[in-house]
Amino acid sequence: MTRFAYVNGRYLPHTQACVHIEDRGFQFGDAIYEVWAVRAGQLMDADGHFGRLERSLAELRIRNPRSRAGYRLLIAELLRRNRIRDGLVYLQISRGQARRDHAFPPANTPPTIVLTAKPLNMAAAHRRAETGVGVITTPDQRWGRCDIKTVNLLPNILAKQAALEAGAAEAWLIDAGGQVTEGSSTNAWIVTADGILVTRQADHGILHGITRAAVMRCAAELGYRVEERSFSVEEALSAREAFMTSATSFVTPIVAIDGRTVANGAPGSVAVALRAAYLDHV
Ligand code: PDD
Repeated sequence: MTRFAYVNGRYLPHTQACVHIEDRGFQFGDAIYEVWAVRAGQLMDADGHFGRLERSLAELRIRNPRSRAGYRLLIAELLRRNRIRDGLVYLQISRGQARRDHAFPPANTPPTIVLTAKPLNMAAAHRRAETGVGVITTPDQRWGRCDIKTVNLLPNILAKQAALEAGAAEAWLIDAGGQVTEGSSTNAWIVTADGILVTRQADHGILHGITRAAVMRCAAELGYRVEERSFSVEEALSAREAFMTSATSFVTPIVAIDGRTVANGAPGSVAVALRAAYLDHV
């Protein structure tokens, strides 16, 4: 079956889909993106991701080329053409194609829109959650606006690669003060010995995860107390549980940090309950 992508108004076979060599996303990383999980043909947390998309564009003064309804139509057609029921949708919008110059191009330059979709192996994702995963820690080398979902992900990909090479699934990024900011592509959480959920405050130092926000709502419904504050690796190592959240991993228990087990090294009951509640809620 041919896989399709969408680029600037056209659905093309994935192998033929491309942007211009002077696209500003390609040359400067002058672009933002969003990732939605798709379950049973529906976008998960659709409006949360659209809201963040609009915010990322506004913060970088990139014109938003479509309405939410417009994006929804494009995505529905892409999912239909790729016959995806469970999977991921990736949307990237750059400031467009223009002669290379650091300054913004003329205001009438159309932004570039790219959409791809791929199936997700739900069984494999659930298996990872059943055993839990390990993380490593590494210095957070990113810029001061990690709340904007830009495609500038060099520190993130280097951290993720280091994690994989160390036999772990994710890297937790550590700020100059020794506090965990977030994972390379996930938000970081712990459950304290008193049963309080802790995740870093949503400032400019982290991406404001849409799954993070949804899991906070689930936690409140289940009667858990959530504190938005920084925590150190030492605090995480003495925590009752640790876990990560993202559109692609939902809620996934973390059972080891830098090779040292968290609690008894098995997925914690709070993470398991939140994963179930999150998947139910969406
Ligand atoms: N990553 N933090 C970072 C740095 C991320 O890249 C992501 C998402 C998250 C979680 O955000 P959300 O819950 O909205 O997915 C946190 C996506 C999935 C990616 O880059 O593929």
